Amino acid sequence: MDAFLIRGPSPLNGSVRASGAKNAVLPALAAALLTSEPVTLENLPDVADVKTMGVLLSGMGVTLEPGGPGRLTLRAGTISSTEAPYDLVRTMRASILVLGPLLARFGEARVSLPGGCAIGVRPVDLHLSAMEAMGARIAVEKGYIHAHVSRISAAAGRLSGAEITFPQPTVTGTENVLFAAALARGRTVVRNAALEPEIVDVARLLAAMGARIEGAGTRTITVEGVERLGGTGARPHAVIPDRIETGTYLAAGAISGGDVNVTGARPGDLTAFLDALRRAGVDVAAGADTIRVRRAGPLRASDIKTAPHPGFPTDLQAQFLALMTQAEGTSRIVETIFENRFLHVGELVRLGADVKLDAHTAVVRGPVALEGAPVTASDLRASAALVLAGLAAKGETRVRRIYHLDRGYSRMDETLRRLGASIERIPG
Ligand code: EPU
Repeated sequence: MDAFLIRGPSPLNGSVRASGAKNAVLPALAAALLTSEPVTLENLPDVADVKTMGVLLSGMGVTLEPGGPGRLTLRAGTISSTEAPYDLVRTMRASILVLGPLLARFGEARVSLPGGCAIGVRPVDLHLSAMEAMGARIAVEKGYIHAHVSRISAAAGRLSGAEITFPQPTVTGTENVLFAAALARGRTVVRNAALEPEIVDVARLLAAMGARIEGAGTRTITVEGVERLGGTGARPHAVIPDRIETGTYLAAGAISGGDVNVTGARPGDLTAFLDALRRAGVDVAAGADTIRVRRAGPLRASDIKTAPHPGFPTDLQAQFLALMTQAEGTSRIVETIFENRFLHVGELVRLGADVKLDAHTAVVRGPVALEGAPVTASDLRASAALVLAGLAAKGETRVRRIYHLDRGYSRMDETLRRLGASIERIPG
């Protein structure tokens, strides 16, 4: 198991190019199951979750053909299995994204029920009830979701369009419904749909494959099912830049007191985060596809509350909390999406942070002089927060279990080294 050894403090300076968005690529890969024709994706990030999704799909009989850096062609002509096994699902919950495509095209799916994870219980009940509303029969047995298209409620083994109202927006739940609805008989209307940019990107891919989708990026999405979908043809689908990776490097620039420019980014996807940085006294300059941060003076305490898009993203909460340990005053960080997403707090306290937890609120007092220490990563974004704190801390910080980080960040150590950080990947 690798660790990062960081020697701080080191101000970061320079430019980073944003990678493709992990959370847009994962559903795009699953979408390849919807057609027998080739689907070519571009701008794929080199992260472990993308590899895991590749392993999952090839286990089902999908062929994956790399076509140079960041490019992959998938062919799901025939399928040998409609099962997502426990061993893969437990390492990546996003495996649930194969449920909608398998049901829609093959009329059946067997997906291991994702368990709880470091950030909370994370049920998939909303995915399942949406599939049931579209005519699927669902049973959960021995830890697996068994789903098949019910012949009684759905004609000829196809799912049927339905009116689905989510009690709360769900990102992968909305994506699963789009997949299922794309090949269903009739019209599906999704209300209270998630608005995340990744949803819009997946809808763009589905439209290129021949799906009839309106309203992606708004609360109500309408899908008219079609009988078959095609591939991407002569125009590969280039996935959008990763807003969370972008935000993480901006936070790294700000916490280290440096000057960092992220290129190939989409500032409009990060409005709530950039506003929070500005309120905290960070100088933020956003161009058409670049975002540059500089520390103009001392950081000021700033409150945030996570919310579904376009609110402050939960996937940047840990990184912002780390930044607030260096801000003058008391910041209140409220997490509303996941019940247990504060595992980074105990580790940040080991570095000297002054943070008190009160249910879903972390109260951060700053600025404190962080001091290097060994810490252990617990999930993807918590790991990023520990690396940021390590950049600001005096002395050596060893961040253990960075396999969490590698799930969603492409060679973060190399990127940070290019920006001037002293960071090494070491065994242990
Ligand atoms: N929820 C339910 N039942 C469901 C589905 C969701 O109660 O059936 C609850 C969740 O427990 C949570 C809330 O609804 O409290 C929202 O969860 P959502 O379904 O939107 O999350 P997700 O689709 O499982 C995606 C990202 C996460 C990101 C969240 C929130 C992917 C592959 N994952 O997860 O990304 O935190 O949306 O924006 O898109 C990450 O990249 O580090 C990550 C965790």
